[in-house]
Amino acid sequence: MAHKIAIIVGSLREGSINRKVARSICGLRGDNLDCSMIEIGDLPLYNQDLDANPPPQWTRFREQVGAADGVLFCSPEYNRGIPGVLKNAIDIGSRPYGQSVFDKKPGAIVTASPGAIGGFGANHQIRQAAVFLNMPLMQQPEAYLGHVTDDSFDDSGCLKEGPLKELVTKLAHAFHDWVEMIHRSRQLLAEDSAHAAAREKAHV
Ligand SMILES: Cc1cc2nc3c(=O)[nH]c(=O)nc-3n(C[C@H](O)[C@H](O)[C@H](O)COP(=O)(O)O)c2cc1C
Repeated sequence: MAHKIAIIVGSLREGSINRKVARSICGLRGDNLDCSMIEIGDLPLYNQDLDANPPPQWTRFREQVGAADGVLFCSPEYNRGIPGVLKNAIDIGSRPYGQSVFDKKPGAIVTASPGAIGGFGANHQIRQAAVFLNMPLMQQPEAYLGHVTDDSFDDSGCLKEGPLKELVTKLAHAFHDWVEMIHRSRQLLAEDSAHAAAREKAHV
């Protein structure tokens, strides 16, 4: 069964390398990852005063993420940190208090940059927020993709053959397995609890 994955890209740039990496991850596990790019460029800035009567763009975003089995963040690093547009989206999804759409959703974080350290700073800032939001996050392979440029992709936007594609392929497989494991274990636990309750009832 294909898992529904919400992809949140932290770049609004038309030719974003992070968007291309996200598309590649979906393409490489197209049979098992049913991916949707969730747009964040139109989200009004988060303002707690609006929680009682949220803008329709917030509601659309929350519903789209809420309907997913897992979340994949693909983001650039801006000034060694998380791009504002992505932080805004995370804040919107996390509220109102107690109704976060990220809660318990398995996730993975990928950062890509032409620079050598592959957005390490942004990656860990996203991770910090996602851990706080109770998302079980894939730990390996880590995905600080350095030296990624337009030249890493062919004319149709697919990754060219080479070490980067090999790593992204591993990532795509690992992310599928991660989402599968989290959902399957929850299902087994729920079945165990149901059996235990039935046994207890039978003994009364
Ligand atoms: C405002 C700004 C800040 C940036 N800061 C960093 C940075 O801290 N580290 C880094 O590796 N690249 C940085 N870059 C370069 C981006 O990694 C590069 O533009 C990348 O292509 C952006 O990702 P995208 O192609 O997905 O839009 C910065 C770019 C911008 C526009």
